[in-house]
Amino acid sequence: MLAGKRILLIIGGGIAAYKSLDLIRRLRERGAAVTPVLTRAGTEFVTPLSVSALAGEKVYTDLFDLTDEAEMGHIQLSRVADLVVVAPATADLMAKMAHGHANDLASTLLMATDTPVLMAPAMNVRMWEHPATQRNLAQLLGDGLRVVGPNAGDMACGEYGPGRMSEPLEIVAAIETALGQGPLAGKRILVTSGPTHEPIDPVRYIANRSSGAQGTAIARALASLGAEVVFVTGPADVPAPQGVKVVRVETAQQMLTAVEAALPADAAVFAAAVADWRVASSSGSKIKKDAGRLPVLEFAENPDILATVSQRKTDRPRLVVGFAAETDDVIANATAKRARKGCDWIVANDVSPATGIMGGTENAVHLITVEGREDWPRMSKQQVAAQLAARIAQALV
Ligand code: C5P
Repeated sequence: MLAGKRILLIIGGGIAAYKSLDLIRRLRERGAAVTPVLTRAGTEFVTPLSVSALAGEKVYTDLFDLTDEAEMGHIQLSRVADLVVVAPATADLMAKMAHGHANDLASTLLMATDTPVLMAPAMNVRMWEHPATQRNLAQLLGDGLRVVGPNAGDMACGEYGPGRMSEPLEIVAAIETALGQGPLAGKRILVTSGPTHEPIDPVRYIANRSSGAQGTAIARALASLGAEVVFVTGPADVPAPQGVKVVRVETAQQMLTAVEAALPADAAVFAAAVADWRVASSSGSKIKKDAGRLPVLEFAENPDILATVSQRKTDRPRLVVGFAAETDDVIANATAKRARKGCDWIVANDVSPATGIMGGTENAVHLITVEGREDWPRMSKQQVAAQLAARIAQALV
């Protein structure tokens, strides 16, 4: 609940501004008061009348509005809130914030405020990925701003990729977290993610096709509900999420050491695709290619991190969640795996190449618990993560 909280909401000029109208409703439903500020470009997408009608308050648009200066100066306006939220945060607004411009009401408020700032970026995928935007993002994170999103998906401009503004309820969750009110506030959760690399020699290794996308999305979703997340990741394709403690490892043995060092935790989610075997005696120097002679690799079994943690006598997390990536008899194998490893839940999925799940953006999972099994519909990995994080929050209350 956000009763008694005041949000200063800066609405930038992007097509995602329409979602900010719904955001105002969601915030007011939860008891928050909203002071809306609309940039000049924002007025091209939503009208001041709709914004003020939904907020039930005057909308501020202009820096040099003398009546407002008499009523409330821009400095005072920047200080009335518990949190400043910029949604949508356009590439231009991010650039202004990163460089300290103060040439309109929104940028001046952002410079003058002494309250925390949360931004929800929204822009075309190329603009988001542009080195200038990524530089500005790094600067803003370094300055202590919080970020929610953007999400990947179809965009109004017809392209696909990261750049969609987070949905209003995701922004509400981020606001609650920023105000220390997320459902997982005070909970510490460990997440493993990505593949492991098992060296053959200093330049060669054995790996698997895990991208780390699902584990990264889970860590992000848990953090957005307020959890303190320790994210132990192998060498993944996707960047680690913001706002979590990242521990980078390469091998299964290193991952186990990092996981044990991260305990105690309230819950642990083992989404990493850990290599089952390592090369028993990897060579300290590069194995030479000898004409006519093939190297023979001997394997040793890697530690099973999930089973090790599930069966710990001390410091076992209250909720241990494993994954089961299967290509045959998904449910039967995953149910047996839950019992064998001793974890509480198994998230099972079919990773046959035809499903396009491994390395793809979507997932279709079954949640297997002691009570039975739930079949979740095929959805984006972000949605799977959000649903799983919400279930974890319910289980830990
Ligand atoms: O046995 P399998 O690899 O199919 O089990 C998958 C689950 O076990 C995943 O949750 C994975 O993160 C975990 N696991 C592990 N350590 C291993 C192998 C798998 O933690 N050595």
